[in-house]
Amino acid sequence: MAIPRISLDGALSGIMSAHDLAAINRPTAEARCLPNALYTRPEALELERQRIFFTGWHCVAVGAQVPEPGDVLPATVAGAPVIVARGRDRKLRAFHNVCRHRGMQLVAAPKNRLRVFVCPYHGWSYGLDGQLRETPHFEGHNLHEPCAFKKSDMWLREIRLECWNDLVFVNLSGDAPPLGRQFAALDVRWKNYDFGALRHVASMNFEVKANWKLAIENFLESYHLPFTHPRLNANSRMELHACKVERDYFGQLSDDYRGADAGHGALPRFPRLPENLLLRAEYPTFMPNLMLGLHPDYFFVFTVEPDGPERTRETFHFYFVGEGATAPDHAEARDKAIALWVDTNREDIFVVEGMHKGRHSPGYRDARFSPHHETTTHAFQRRVANLLAGGTGTPVKSPRATERASPGAARTRARAKG
Ligand code: FES
Ligand SMILES: [Fe+2]
Repeated sequence: MAIPRISLDGALSGIMSAHDLAAINRPTAEARCLPNALYTRPEALELERQRIFFTGWHCVAVGAQVPEPGDVLPATVAGAPVIVARGRDRKLRAFHNVCRHRGMQLVAAPKNRLRVFVCPYHGWSYGLDGQLRETPHFEGHNLHEPCAFKKSDMWLREIRLECWNDLVFVNLSGDAPPLGRQFAALDVRWKNYDFGALRHVASMNFEVKANWKLAIENFLESYHLPFTHPRLNANSRMELHACKVERDYFGQLSDDYRGADAGHGALPRFPRLPENLLLRAEYPTFMPNLMLGLHPDYFFVFTVEPDGPERTRETFHFYFVGEGATAPDHAEARDKAIALWVDTNREDIFVVEGMHKGRHSPGYRDARFSPHHETTTHAFQRRVANLLAGGTGTPVKSPRATERASPGAARTRARAKG
């Protein structure tokens, strides 16, 4: 396979060498994992902010967190503070969470029924559309109107915002391709799932002492299921998962997901789901920070947010289908489905933090990927490396790097035949 010719700029000095880049760009069986510095060094995260997080579509929230006019949510994009606000016109907008005067953070906690943003420092106020309204005493006591600039020139800086279903994304650079393009292939693949039937039920956060990439890499493969998650593996077996590498996402899928076996019992399914999807579970991952879990009866959104190079905040949002989201009869099954992932994630945090400790060892280098189980992990690392090097990191399709026939699907078909 030809190795893309990319010359590295000085920003990558000491973080990733041309040798490292060539090594990750080899086929999965021959490739070498990314160097430790990319997981531990502040300069690496700074470069990721500029070349990955700010240029892509970053999932910052879900609409269920800001359902009503005046609902406001502070968030961060790889450390850059932002606000997501639903205006009186019900439109969602995003702004840099920073006052135009002295740069004070405007909003520190979620708010409801807010009419204006009021800066806690010197009292400047802004409408929920970002317009600068008041600059109290700016020219002296009771002299409020600024003389040297027009308030209409000092709106909050707005950030490009788009939604996919209930998920809210921002693009800080303002020049990413439309969000819909990133989801076009998945929209076709998931055309039988009526996302309008989903209702948000719960959200929760986890703090992880590890680099953000390790949290994603762990989600990308099922190789660890028998060892890290013996309970989950008993019902969602490693050998029944398949890897999937597409232009816009990487992930896992299984055709043998059984809610009852997984411990949460029957829940209402997506309406009119075809027979071949009744046992399907899919777990696609989108750059830079979004992982999804789709089942016949529930959906989750899992995001990561770097808090420095060695800490990550994870967020789960759970959705259930129709009355399955609210009916008391289904409360126990809902709680168990959520608990399954909370317990699984605690097990994952143990290995993710353990891998991060390993990234401080000079003894960890030139590591290899399983050519069967880790085509996704490889594709993700490759995408990161090539984006940092100034390329696109778009995966080259090869037989190894595309979806394998899911063993679960074969088993399901065999069962259907009797
Ligand atoms: S920093 Fe906001 S009003 Fe001064
Ligand atoms: Fe896991």
